[in-house]
Amino acid sequence: MSDLHDLCKFPNRPINNEYLDQLKYYLESGIPSTYTIEEAYNYTNNIETEPTSTTTPLHLICTHLPKEVSNEKQEIVNSMVSTLFEYGAGWSLIDINNDTPGCILIKRDLKSNPIYDLIVDAGVRAELLLRKVSEYDMEIIEDDEENELYKQFEQEEEQEVVPELVKEEQAEVDDAPDAPSQNQESYLNSKLEYVDNALITKDRKDGVMMSWESNIMKLGCDTLKKGSFIEPNELDSEVNILNIGFGMGIIDTMIQNEIPLTKHYICEAHPDVLKKLKEDGWYDRSNVVILEGRWQDKLNEILSNGNLFFNGIYYDTFSEHYSDMLDLFDIVVGLLKPHGIFSFFNGLGADRQVIYDVYKKLVDLDLSNYGLDCKFTEVEVPKSTLIQNDKSVWDDVKRSYWSCPIYYHPEIKYID
Ligand SMILES: C[S@@+](CC[C@H](N)C(=O)[O-])C[C@H]1O[C@@H](n2cnc3c(N)ncnc32)[C@H](O)[C@@H]1O
Repeated sequence: MSDLHDLCKFPNRPINNEYLDQLKYYLESGIPSTYTIEEAYNYTNNIETEPTSTTTPLHLICTHLPKEVSNEKQEIVNSMVSTLFEYGAGWSLIDINNDTPGCILIKRDLKSNPIYDLIVDAGVRAELLLRKVSEYDMEIIEDDEENELYKQFEQEEEQEVVPELVKEEQAEVDDAPDAPSQNQESYLNSKLEYVDNALITKDRKDGVMMSWESNIMKLGCDTLKKGSFIEPNELDSEVNILNIGFGMGIIDTMIQNEIPLTKHYICEAHPDVLKKLKEDGWYDRSNVVILEGRWQDKLNEILSNGNLFFNGIYYDTFSEHYSDMLDLFDIVVGLLKPHGIFSFFNGLGADRQVIYDVYKKLVDLDLSNYGLDCKFTEVEVPKSTLIQNDKSVWDDVKRSYWSCPIYYHPEIKYID
């Protein structure tokens, strides 16, 4: 424990501007804002091994922030947190309990404290910065290993655990980059199995789709249906719906039953799922068109033909990343009718609430760059949804990809 760490535990009351001045003094003196109590302990005890957990000053503030503070004191704490971020504090570093600073606030029932929003904003900034850095990396950095700016960014990237954003992407360290849940090629080469209430990868038992998501698919279907109308009471003369990712066909069955369809397009890449589509007669339905292959290929073909536009587009795939979604946004703007609606299964970071909140903001921001407006409806995920026949739905599945109490359902359309 160092003086900086001590300060962040608010040992003396009242909380006043001296806290802020003292914090600035330490940071200006060169103590890193990410200095951890584990590093301080190792330093004091002459231990040379690298600590595995990272309890930073921000973790301590979140742990020791009093539950009730006056506005004036809250302002001081906000300034302390902002100052830490100005000096490079990490929003997503993990302490010994596997908690980020935001997780600690949630556990303490302090999610509504303004510093939670400051943490989420820092997460959004970090993600945007990392995106820029990787563009920069591709375009400019070649052999210039001496580039100081890049080195600094790289260090930040190593320090920050920025878990990826889709439900398949649990940030488990043992998940190799070529695991089916992480890598499309390896996923498309894996055998799949339809078991009770789920579609899973045969060898690794990764959950590709699970029936507990039916209520979420219903939200998706209801949202797409709204895009069938030009005005609230004026049904479009041609209603085209596109669903990307068939899985268990839950949303496709709903689309068939509930939307006044002209044509229903289903884009699906996995051979085992396409086999299931055949066996179950989806190819024989007169209003269904199966787009066999990855959306990255099939939708670009439609886009270049330039004669098909959709009232509703739904996206729910497996082993893809947020960067894929950004590519999809490029296509969606070209395929959506002016009154059309786009939605997706929002599991972005849903294995950790604070990351789920970061991506809620990020998606909104990214879509606004396309002239699209994203409204999230917050829907409680009842605990009973995740318990079926007295068993957790995760019992036979390798990894749980959901741990948030509220689902943020996205409804995306052109800004009026
Ligand atoms: C989570 S499931 C979809 C579940 C579906 N929403 C339902 O209601 O049952 C994901 C599906 O996306 C498919 N998929 C994955 N990547 C794809 C891609 N790039 N293009 C098209 N389909 C893909 C998978 O094979 C899988 O069938």
